[in-house]
Amino acid sequence: MSRPNRKGLNLHRLLLLAAPVLLTAAEGTPQITFDKDVAPILYSHCVVCHHANDIAPMSLVTYQEVRPWAAAIRQAVVQRIMPPWHADPHIGEYINDSRLSEADMATIDAWVKSGAMEGSKEDLPPAPQFNNGWHIKPDLILTIPEQTVAAANQDDYEYIYVPTNFQEDRWIQAAEVVPGDRRVVHHATVSVIAADKVPIGKKAGENLGPFEFRTGQVNHLKPDAPVSDDGCATSTVPGLESFSSGYVNHVPGIYLPGHLAEVRPPGYALKIPAGSYLQFQVHYSNRLKETVTDRTSIGLVFAKEPVTHEVAQYEIWNNYFLIPPSDSAHKVTSCFTLPKDVTVVAYTAHMHFRGKSMTTEAIYPDGRHEVIFNVPKYDFRWQETYFLKHQFLMPKGTKLVTTAYFDNSVNNPLNPDATKAVRWGEPSNEEMMGFWLAYADDVPQKPAEPSSGLESKQ
Ligand code: HEC
Repeated sequence: MSRPNRKGLNLHRLLLLAAPVLLTAAEGTPQITFDKDVAPILYSHCVVCHHANDIAPMSLVTYQEVRPWAAAIRQAVVQRIMPPWHADPHIGEYINDSRLSEADMATIDAWVKSGAMEGSKEDLPPAPQFNNGWHIKPDLILTIPEQTVAAANQDDYEYIYVPTNFQEDRWIQAAEVVPGDRRVVHHATVSVIAADKVPIGKKAGENLGPFEFRTGQVNHLKPDAPVSDDGCATSTVPGLESFSSGYVNHVPGIYLPGHLAEVRPPGYALKIPAGSYLQFQVHYSNRLKETVTDRTSIGLVFAKEPVTHEVAQYEIWNNYFLIPPSDSAHKVTSCFTLPKDVTVVAYTAHMHFRGKSMTTEAIYPDGRHEVIFNVPKYDFRWQETYFLKHQFLMPKGTKLVTTAYFDNSVNNPLNPDATKAVRWGEPSNEEMMGFWLAYADDVPQKPAEPSSGLESKQ
């Protein structure tokens, strides 16, 4: 192809940017140092994950912590492996785009090449403070009762209901789900559910679809269920209206691999109606040899400004695919037509270990086609939600066509088993094909939440 080699281009620009700095250093003017030049970059782009007891394996806060990693940091940064970011930068602009600027990359590159010097302490900015695992400042924390996670139980989906006891509707601007024990909480999704929908004496996961079956605490698609990789095809299967499904979910917060707190743009908030419960769907995966306990929490930040938009999300799925063994690029599609006008806020791609790429195209009622979202190299370990810098109106009748590719070959290092035909299932070694579109509806004249201190509830 005639496209320029992006990596080559970046490196070239990097060298151009870095050169003047190195020259001045050679002339005896100040060196690039950790304290003055590098710490500010790490503090704003890295330490959110790279601090003690967070998701990254090492802390990158002090010079002593960073120095042994200097070469690895340079490599991870120059190759754009870190900070993790998987959306195609040519499609859409995102508020939470964590990619480093070329100038910051050049600074790190030049710092490492010139000996990774410390510098002087008076140049060092104060390190960001982290508050017991929270990356936001919650007004309210709701925590599940203690759960026992048996040794070696890797596929345990629990549904736990926590009352909010809200006397009135509350508006949530930001939320974060923090696992009690990160070693065993694989993911956790918190949804709003009305009190009269809370299943009493029954687990939500036991509501099986027509072609599903259950083992232990997880659901799967039956091996002989209807097959359609084309989610846009018309179903002629009795009892199955269509191969794609799209439903509305009200999700204040989610903990997925690599997923940070959900901070919505000012004026955009999620409503939790008075009296609602929060449903915590927690996927426990305990690879340890011991039984442990967990108390996962959600922290909520109430909207402090007038709410102009209420957010919710469409979760769009094709659950009827079949990925043959050894197929390195198996195509699966889903289709969903918007039943109303919505303001588009964010996108999330959700697949498991065999997920390779995902693209969503909008076909507008006037016939125009537009690729709105592209994750060219999906990585199960990083499931970011991409918040749009410019929300836009998507009219009723817009058809969303999502195309995913799965790599079920031995060349996929994450593939648990290339010899298996794979269908839909909750365990990570089975698959899912989901595109989630967070959207907003206008809320005329919503008053701001009264500001409140931390009302902690355990
Ligand atoms: C969203 C969280 C997150 C952010 C932001 C982040 N990292 Fe990481 N980083 C991780 C996790 C988790 C790992 C370990 C998993 C892995 O290696 O894929 C990691 C691994 C690394 C590694 C080790 C790679 C190797 O060779 O094994 C380096 C070096 C690194 N990060 C540097 C950085 C730097 C520098 C930044 C900022 C420019 C940064 N990271 C931003 C989460 C993060």
